[in-house]
Amino acid sequence: MLHIGVRRGGVAMGVEAAPRAPVVELLRHAGRAPSVHNTQPWFWCVDDDRVTLFADREKQLEHADPDGRDLMLSCGAALHHLSVAAAAAGWEARIHRMPNPDNAAQLADVTFAPGPSTAQARHELEALLRRRTDRRRMASWPVGRGEVARLLAAAVRCRAQAVAVTSAPARALLLNLQDAADAAQRRDPGYLDELEAWVERTDDQGIPFANLVRHPPPVGDRGAGTRFPSGILADAYPSEEPPYDALLVICSASDDRASRLGAGEALSAVLLQSAMDGLASMTLSQAVEVDRTREILRDELLKRAAFPQVLIRVGWAEDGLEPLPPTPRFPIDQLVSDPANLPSRFDPYRPPQP
Ligand SMILES: Cc1cc2nc3c(=O)[nH]c(=O)nc-3n(C[C@H](O)[C@H](O)[C@H](O)COP(=O)(O)O)c2cc1C
Repeated sequence: MLHIGVRRGGVAMGVEAAPRAPVVELLRHAGRAPSVHNTQPWFWCVDDDRVTLFADREKQLEHADPDGRDLMLSCGAALHHLSVAAAAAGWEARIHRMPNPDNAAQLADVTFAPGPSTAQARHELEALLRRRTDRRRMASWPVGRGEVARLLAAAVRCRAQAVAVTSAPARALLLNLQDAADAAQRRDPGYLDELEAWVERTDDQGIPFANLVRHPPPVGDRGAGTRFPSGILADAYPSEEPPYDALLVICSASDDRASRLGAGEALSAVLLQSAMDGLASMTLSQAVEVDRTREILRDELLKRAAFPQVLIRVGWAEDGLEPLPPTPRFPIDQLVSDPANLPSRFDPYRPPQP
């Protein structure tokens, strides 16, 4: 079983003094992170007191995510989930991002120092375990300014920026862009095949029908629509009151790999804050995946002050809905190795092993 041995104060303290945490348990929690189409495009290498996060390009979606943005966001979400799991177990995760300029797949080295296991950290871990992507109609009760401010602050704590899209014209623009991106993507037959291929799989990845609503509205419909085919999830009956949801854009100052990784960490932080506040949440990425709609989003909504990375919809769940089942995840032993057994695609420069 893999364990982390932690050196207190940077000094190795001898065998009996090294406290140990079950790193596999932390990585299992990290694996609960959201990922595009539930591809789980991350891989971990555990070496004594260090965990290294790698991006798995073999899991990149060729049609929905041609430039790998969603893949990096997903890995960033897993990295943030790891730090949340570590904090709840009494470890402070110390993260060195992009530690190896010669290896683009190596996204972060993480070491752990003893820290307090606070009630707040344990509350956050509970939210991590409870969080689901909720594609159902939101209730009509508005999301308050206080809640929105807390969500934006969660993104800022991860050194990303977040913008709440509040005015009616800005909302309409964003939803139109989602709609236009959906239409553009659907013109690519490969995209449609890819979408079908990631629904209701039997290999611990993809999105089960149980997480997809039975009668999804169109993509641009108040942000509630989904790109995926219909599933079997019962939705709230349409009520007299229109649903209310808040739309946020996670953005960053530049658009390099590190910024995308950081935006993924911020995405995770916002989703977990939503779960802690009892809000339902859903990640939306189509308007950012298509070059043309991403450019319009950047020009007209963000006034070229930042690069959009991903959208989030939050709102109150309707009363009386069933809790959502968890989407599947790979068994952790398929996503972790020690350095000697690291698959060569993660480190092309590693000398061949005897
Ligand atoms: C970068 C990224 C982009 C996503 N884009 C969408 C999207 O456009 N539409 C959607 O319904 N879900 C989207 N999701 C949500 C994933 O489908 C979801 O996280 C995954 O199926 C795992 O389910 P869970 O979040 O309930 O654990 C996205 C997630 C991430 C991390």
